[in-house]
Amino acid sequence: MTRSVAEEIIRLKKESGAFIFAHNYTLPEVQDIADFTGDSLELSIRAKEVKAEKIVFCGVSFMAETAKILSPDSKVLHPVPASGCAMADMAVAEKVAEYRKNHPGTVIVAYVNTTAAVKAEVDICCTSANAEKIVASIPADKNILFLPDRNLGRNVMNSLGRKMELWPGYCPVHNNIDVKMLEEARRLHPGAAIMVHPECPEEVVKNAEYAMSTGAMLRFLPNAKEKEFIVGTEEGILHRMRKENPDKIFYPLLPQIICPDMKKITLEDVLKSLKEEVYEVKLPVETMNRARKAIENMLAVK
Ligand code: 13P
Ligand code: SF4
Repeated sequence: MTRSVAEEIIRLKKESGAFIFAHNYTLPEVQDIADFTGDSLELSIRAKEVKAEKIVFCGVSFMAETAKILSPDSKVLHPVPASGCAMADMAVAEKVAEYRKNHPGTVIVAYVNTTAAVKAEVDICCTSANAEKIVASIPADKNILFLPDRNLGRNVMNSLGRKMELWPGYCPVHNNIDVKMLEEARRLHPGAAIMVHPECPEEVVKNAEYAMSTGAMLRFLPNAKEKEFIVGTEEGILHRMRKENPDKIFYPLLPQIICPDMKKITLEDVLKSLKEEVYEVKLPVETMNRARKAIENMLAVK
């Protein structure tokens, strides 16, 4: 009897004791074979808790790096290292270090969508799920640089009424969403609530009913009073939304809001990763130690 790729992955996973993580935007079939699927914050926390010898990380490279930083004794495998994040690439460690040198005293807050080398240069990390809480924890007399996402930074500034300097980065997938698209979707689906990611521009966030991280969306939906939702974020999230809320209807804001990097990891890649133990995430120990401090500073904020 020939086994399907998914069955073979499940078998090998059990045999080797590997733990598979997947982000909410990955391919549905990849989410389905994962031991844990979540948003960036949930994945970081779980990576720290899991004491697995081997971790296969299905998501973009900064997420696999974060898992390695938090689980340095595990072998962390990233099935497709070319699966990067266009936004993370907009902040380069040397430039951040130069900024720090020229602005002593400024607190640098980095969204987790950054490379390990950038995290090593900053004071504290945040995710889209906790950005407001992290910024609010910084004493009011401190200047703040928020990087790399100017949209998330602007949306946090608007909610908290606090000024920050913003790095000129953005997510090409979410930055392309505009208010006209929301108006058109409302016309097509009157009565549906619009849910967007805070990486969207501020006018989009202001015009939507809800703006939250992918994990917060999934926690919110089961108890939501509305029955229909227009979803303004990467389409991979629709898989869990529909599976976990069969009584609700979800419309993508546009037919295709796709992060090509999140779709690069296929089941065949996961199988290869398990079989051949590729591709191991390797980072300089000093970079990991400094980056871990910024992540732990974030996790310590209650
Ligand atoms: P979440 O933290 O909401 O999962 O977002 C990560 C991301 O890359 C969004 O584009
Ligand atoms: Fe990066 Fe945007 Fe893709 Fe998220 S959706 S991984 S921020 S490029």
